Amino acid sequence: MGHNCKIDGVEGVQVFRGVVLQVLAWGWCGCNTYLVYGNDFPGPDGGLLGEVEAAEAALRDAAERGLAGAAGRQGADEATLRDYFTAVIEADQKIEPRDWMPEAYRKTLIRQIAQHAHSEIIGMQPEGNWITRAPSLKRKAILLAKVQDEAGHGLYLYAAAETLGVSRDELVQMLLEGRQKYSSIFNYPTLTWADVGAIGWLVDGAAIVNQVPLCRCSYGPYARAMIRICKEESFHQRQGYEILHTLSHGTPAQKAMAQDAIDRWWYPSLAMFGPPDTASTHSEQSMAWKIKRFSNDELRQRFVDMCVQQAEILGLTLPDPDLRWNEQRQAYDYTQPDYDELMRVIKGDGPCNRQRIEHRRRAHREGAWVREAAAAYAAKDRVRQEAAA
Ligand SMILES: [Fe+2]
Ligand SMILES: [Fe+2]
Repeated sequence: MGHNCKIDGVEGVQVFRGVVLQVLAWGWCGCNTYLVYGNDFPGPDGGLLGEVEAAEAALRDAAERGLAGAAGRQGADEATLRDYFTAVIEADQKIEPRDWMPEAYRKTLIRQIAQHAHSEIIGMQPEGNWITRAPSLKRKAILLAKVQDEAGHGLYLYAAAETLGVSRDELVQMLLEGRQKYSSIFNYPTLTWADVGAIGWLVDGAAIVNQVPLCRCSYGPYARAMIRICKEESFHQRQGYEILHTLSHGTPAQKAMAQDAIDRWWYPSLAMFGPPDTASTHSEQSMAWKIKRFSNDELRQRFVDMCVQQAEILGLTLPDPDLRWNEQRQAYDYTQPDYDELMRVIKGDGPCNRQRIEHRRRAHREGAWVREAAAAYAAKDRVRQEAAA
């Protein structure tokens, strides 16, 4: 047999084969868990999930460290409270709902978390469009679960926003009246099945690059929600990548469909990181408050660098003739997205803005009876409990 295994016969052969496969797996994807835990596909997350886990560990550490002077919260004057707030942020501790915070910090967070929550909910629509037309039972089940995850993300985020003293009803109302925004990416249509793959790979991929640093955001409830969300998003990205991989290794028509989807989603995905740093309005203060940790352009670059290698594995091309490695910068040079188009879509003039918000308004109207029934049940329950007490 050529090895010192003490197991004889068939079992020995199996062990030997297992070891060989394990070594191959280790060489192939740089880990020794590929076959052990049954991963079905080498994932594209580029180490981001590791960063989420590190952020989670840091969050636990911070919770155990505590901060000297925390007692200064009650009855203190504003200067003392402000000092405490600054000290918490500088020590990489978390601001919690019970803590004093500057009004601008609270408002910035409400705006950002609400916009994020709205994006999760509106983001259910482009892919929801394909649930009835998914090409197989397996694809349908995965897509259903994915779209349902996005509803869950919206829920965690509305709950995180509510800790800042605003109600979910108010936030939903602001979305429906167009007073708060959602990510402009969801105003683009999903024309083919391959778009579901492109959304998972590129749109969820860009979302993760954006959101992993938010796992270290200074506001505790937001950071904790982001950890859970990022873990789920990494699976969303993986499923999109796997759809594209299957299509690009299928018939010429399937490969062309995958390429067409990437051609249409690439630049809108780059635009998800927002305007370039030179034109970004909220960044500096958000960085100082440790809500934001990297600039729009830094995150966009990171995303581009990740996607180039992944596109090669997919056997598909990113639609940018000027994409090339820059030895000096140790990063890829790339063509910027059309920021004028981004601004037009944000202002309401994208291909599907009207359709998305109309659909959300209708769903909200049609769900009124559910909200009323839940409120009536809660009221009855309260009366029952009071009577029993
Ligand atoms: Fe999500
Ligand atoms: Fe997602």
